[in-house]
Amino acid sequence: MSQSKSGFSKLSKVDKLEWLLSTYFSEDAHVEKVLKQYWNANESLQRLHDDFIENTISNFYLPYAVAPNFMINDKYYTVPMVIEESSVVAAASKAAKFWSKRGGFKTTILGTEKIGQVHFMYNGDKEKLRDFFELTKSKFFENTQAITANMQKRGGGITSIELRDKTSSLDNYYQLHATFETVNSMGANFINTCLEDFAKTLKEEAEIYEGFSEDEHIDLVMSILSNFVPNCVVRAEVSCLVEDLDPNPAFAEKFVQAVQIARVEPFRAVTHNKGIMNGVDAVVLATGNDFRAVEAGVHAYASKEGQYKSLSNAEIKDGVFRFWLDLPLALGVVGGLTSLHPLVKFSLQMLGNPNAQELMQVVAAAGLAQNFGALNSLTTTGIQQGHMKMHLINILNQLEATHDERKLTLKRFKGRPITHSAVVSFVETLRIQQ
Ligand code: MEV
Repeated sequence: MSQSKSGFSKLSKVDKLEWLLSTYFSEDAHVEKVLKQYWNANESLQRLHDDFIENTISNFYLPYAVAPNFMINDKYYTVPMVIEESSVVAAASKAAKFWSKRGGFKTTILGTEKIGQVHFMYNGDKEKLRDFFELTKSKFFENTQAITANMQKRGGGITSIELRDKTSSLDNYYQLHATFETVNSMGANFINTCLEDFAKTLKEEAEIYEGFSEDEHIDLVMSILSNFVPNCVVRAEVSCLVEDLDPNPAFAEKFVQAVQIARVEPFRAVTHNKGIMNGVDAVVLATGNDFRAVEAGVHAYASKEGQYKSLSNAEIKDGVFRFWLDLPLALGVVGGLTSLHPLVKFSLQMLGNPNAQELMQVVAAAGLAQNFGALNSLTTTGIQQGHMKMHLINILNQLEATHDERKLTLKRFKGRPITHSAVVSFVETLRIQQ
């Protein structure tokens, strides 16, 4: 029965659970056990997880895996991946090993600039606003000095603030468009704190500015960072002689065609980029970064030329196959979950405690590896072959198959079509025979 509940957030965890169970699961005594079996016996660890968000009632596990043999700029990494989709880790590991024998991944940081904006409305003379901004600009920096001091010590801070006239898109709409360097942090807190301070300064200074007439005023709308980071970009690439890629030279050509299709055809580009994000998100999650921010920024970047396109590129030139990916990534290795979540700490340690730029490079390599694996399968055997084996394993897990049942079922379905009903029926037959 559906029911509303006021004051839910104020209930204790046990009371929240009790309310849920009595409201939705009164007939099903099993549910409480299901939820509680995911509680961690270590109470302080459980409390840590409870406190990450609000209204926590249990934990939701995702598999944590590693993909070894990633050679990036001549250094080997074992890459942490958190993902629920089968075949992704296998494909990343296979591609990593393949490229480690062909020079590995080469990566370059193309930029690290973050962006934030104060959005506001102004109903007066544009020239006056421009004069006001020029006069006030230094105050935005001065007033945020207490906020920026630490970041400046680490080599970051506010890098620019400009006034942008957006009135051709929306009447009276202007922005303070600011850029930031946030070094090893993703920077969300830092940027948003600076922006809210800019907004305060903007409002206060406008109120005492004598250049505006009585009916010319600034109305603040909001201050927030942008997850579109087109100047915070890493490039990852691999290359080798065409004959070293595959004994069949047609393979390289078909591979390039597959990438070209994703450059011109949005329906394909979305799926192509989804494959890249299989690798990217898995590492972003394992390192405690905000995968929603990364997803939003990446897809905006893929559309930056006015049409949604593949994030990766490929070419064959003078007998050399080259495959590369430009990825906008705002990542942090300090702040947020990075020092709180024990598995995030583990991930970063396993990666050799990288700085943010190094982490960007690892994530981009994982994305490129994933894209290589997907296109490799798609242009040769198709992806179902690999997927079906994992599908079979999932069915066997559902059936709680024994070691012998697994062995016999895998043998039986090798090279044969796998359907849920066929597998169930085969396992049932085995069980009857025993
Ligand atoms: C599936 O998760 C990802 C792929 O569809 C990517 C692609 O088509 O390139 C295999």
